[in-house]
Amino acid sequence: MYRILKKTTLSEQVKLMVIEAPLIAKKARPGQFIILRTNEQGERIPLTIADYDAQAGTVTIIFQEVGKTTIQLGKLEEGESLVDFVGPLGKPSHFEESVKKAAVIGGGLGTAIAYPQAKYLHALGIKVTSIIGFRTKDLIILEDEVGAVSDKLLVMTDDGSNGNKGFVTDALKSQIEAGEQFDLVIAIGPLIMMKFVSKLTKEYGIKTIVSMNPIMIDGTGMCGGCRVTVGGKTLFACVDGPDFDGHEVDYDEAMRRQNMYKKQEESSCNLFKGVDN
Ligand code: FAD
Ligand code: FES
Ligand code: MG
Repeated sequence: MYRILKKTTLSEQVKLMVIEAPLIAKKARPGQFIILRTNEQGERIPLTIADYDAQAGTVTIIFQEVGKTTIQLGKLEEGESLVDFVGPLGKPSHFEESVKKAAVIGGGLGTAIAYPQAKYLHALGIKVTSIIGFRTKDLIILEDEVGAVSDKLLVMTDDGSNGNKGFVTDALKSQIEAGEQFDLVIAIGPLIMMKFVSKLTKEYGIKTIVSMNPIMIDGTGMCGGCRVTVGGKTLFACVDGPDFDGHEVDYDEAMRRQNMYKKQEESSCNLFKGVDN
């Protein structure tokens, strides 16, 4: 059992939990993730390792309550435990030593996954410009946390309700055109956002890493659920990623695969209303 040592509410739907998991904390590296289950009957969901402390034996997760399992997770309190907490999974992030300036782009929920990447780059002494985008002002998450690990932070809203109207791609383009010279762009968010960020950075020849988030089931490369096509090759996001070269990913195929599960997701939408197991 994996005890919840600390629980913090970061915004209405976004929570941070520090979990007692000494073996994972010992091996974890930035960019990796865990798969958890809240109870014996529960489904497995992947969450990024937002932070870890090998000495204290703890792993931090940050999650947005978007559906049944994340809502169940958010209801657990300090002192309660998770039945499964498996990891570290996936390949650790790797950045070339030549990278001096990076732009980290987070779209919506992807901001929770982009935050540890910005923090890691910042800790390495790399200059970080973070650009995070949301549909509207009320959905903005982790603004202070991302700001604390960035040299520059731009928060965009699609509807302009925070006074900064536009997509993350608009902000990135303005930064590049204003003379910012990024050696690396990391983009994490909806597939359509990562597709257009990658299209833009390809025009400017800037290396781009995206974090793919297909449905994951076993997290070991066995079930094939998380397969993606990268550079014409079939790869598995759980073992070969989740980070990939943004210029090589087949986004259109990934979007088609994501839509394959729409019906099942709609039916689970009704399930989480009022069901607690
Ligand atoms: P549901 O209603 O079941 O699903 C909502 C949406 O979540 C779906 O449309 C689908 O796109 C996605 N999803 C559902 N089940 C899975 C699954 N088994 N695997 C992958 N995606 C799924 N979210 C965070 O808030 N913080 C994180 O740090 C984070 N890290 C992630 C790291 C990886 C490698 C991946 C693949 C996903 C990550 N996610 C993260 C997304 C998170 O896994 C989903 O939000 C979660 O599974 C939703 O489950 P649900 O039952 O609450 O919602
Ligand atoms: Fe099953 Fe990746 S989650 S192969
Ligand atoms: Mg679910």
